[in-house]
Amino acid sequence: MEKLIIQGPSVLTGSVSVGGFKNAAVAVLPATIIQAGVYNLENIPDITDIDCIQAIFNKKGMEWSNVSSNTIRIDTRSLDTYDFTDDEMSSIRASIYFAGALLSRFGHAIVALPGGCNFGERPIDLHIKGFEALGATVRQEYGKLFVDAPNGLKGASIYLDTVSVGATVNIMLAAVKAEGSTTIENAAKEPHIVDLANFLNNMGAKIRGAGTDVIKITGVKELKGHTAYTIVQDMIEAGTFMIAAAATKGNVFVRNVIPKHMESLTAKLEEMGVGVEAGDDFVHIFPKDWPLDKAVIKTMPYPGFPTDLHPQMATLLTQAQGDSTIKETVWLTRFQYANELNRMGARIDVNCPVASIHGGQPLTGAPVSANDLRAGAALVIAGLCATGTTAVSGVHYIDRGYENLVDKFRQLGADIERVED
Ligand code: EPZ
Repeated sequence: MEKLIIQGPSVLTGSVSVGGFKNAAVAVLPATIIQAGVYNLENIPDITDIDCIQAIFNKKGMEWSNVSSNTIRIDTRSLDTYDFTDDEMSSIRASIYFAGALLSRFGHAIVALPGGCNFGERPIDLHIKGFEALGATVRQEYGKLFVDAPNGLKGASIYLDTVSVGATVNIMLAAVKAEGSTTIENAAKEPHIVDLANFLNNMGAKIRGAGTDVIKITGVKELKGHTAYTIVQDMIEAGTFMIAAAATKGNVFVRNVIPKHMESLTAKLEEMGVGVEAGDDFVHIFPKDWPLDKAVIKTMPYPGFPTDLHPQMATLLTQAQGDSTIKETVWLTRFQYANELNRMGARIDVNCPVASIHGGQPLTGAPVSANDLRAGAALVIAGLCATGTTAVSGVHYIDRGYENLVDKFRQLGADIERVED
């Protein structure tokens, strides 16, 4: 097992460039299966969740070539099965997207139930509701989902009881070739939903309204079996670096960013007294007021404050003065990071779904462990703020969603290295 060893404190300075969005790439890749063809995809992040999807493609006999470090060429013409139950399917959440894509291509899908970061129950009832609304039958047994639409899929109006990124993605994948029109009400509005819609429309789909809470899809008989596409930038990676810069009183340009995607975080950082300047494709973080002021955070679906920046924000709030709170409304138990930060001297009281963070506690280095991707990022940021040595284990979680995190932090002046435990 590997660990990240961080010597703190450090002040981050310089500039860092953000890569392609994990949560967009893991939706676009299964979409290439809908239509047999050849696809060139750029800005694909080099992370283990993508490696997992590559293994799935290869096991199904589809060609996947790495044209460059972040550009791939995929050939889905040879796919001749809708049985996707290999082990890799149970190690990531996004494998559930193969259900919608296979349903569009073959009218059938057998997929292993998904895995993903472990912060409580992650149901798929809304995905199933969507498939059934489109005329498919769905059976769940032996850890697999059996989805069948022998007479084809028919457009429908589907209301999502809870705003769900995954269900919105899966219904889009299943509806693009359904007969007639589909409306998704109360749809997720995240940038990765827009990115998937853009990709599918590049393939000849007819999707309108992505990015709003009503998405309209007019089914088409065939999609174009080829397209080139560049994945949108990763707003969560960008936010992670913005928060790390603020927490270390640093001066950092976070580049290759769409500032509009960062607005909920930018607003909170400015409220706390952090210097923030947004350019066309960068956000500049610099010291303005210190100590920073406390904040009240409530995570919400986009454009609200993203749940995937909750743990990182908690670390920042330990460095502010006064008592802050974070109310989690998406994953009500994603508080594992709190115990680990408390081992470093933080004072965080968790009364699900609210964390109360008593700021102004100096952090000291300690051995800590991550058990989800974003908690891992929060512990790295804590190590940068702490005095002494922090050893972060559970690095494989961090590698799921952050490309070259160690190198990127080192180029900002952090004393961090990856070692074999
Ligand atoms: C996606 O997960 C992301 N993962 C998560 O990012 C992110 O935290 C989440 O969206 C919210 O933004 C990927 O995109 C691969 P949801 P997903 O369906 O699709 C409930 C990261 O760190 N729900 O939007 O699984 C659910 O319980 C990861 O990059 C149902 O009730 O999330 C939750 O409370 C972690 N029934 C809420 O909806 C369903 O069928 C939002 O979940 C589906 C979801």
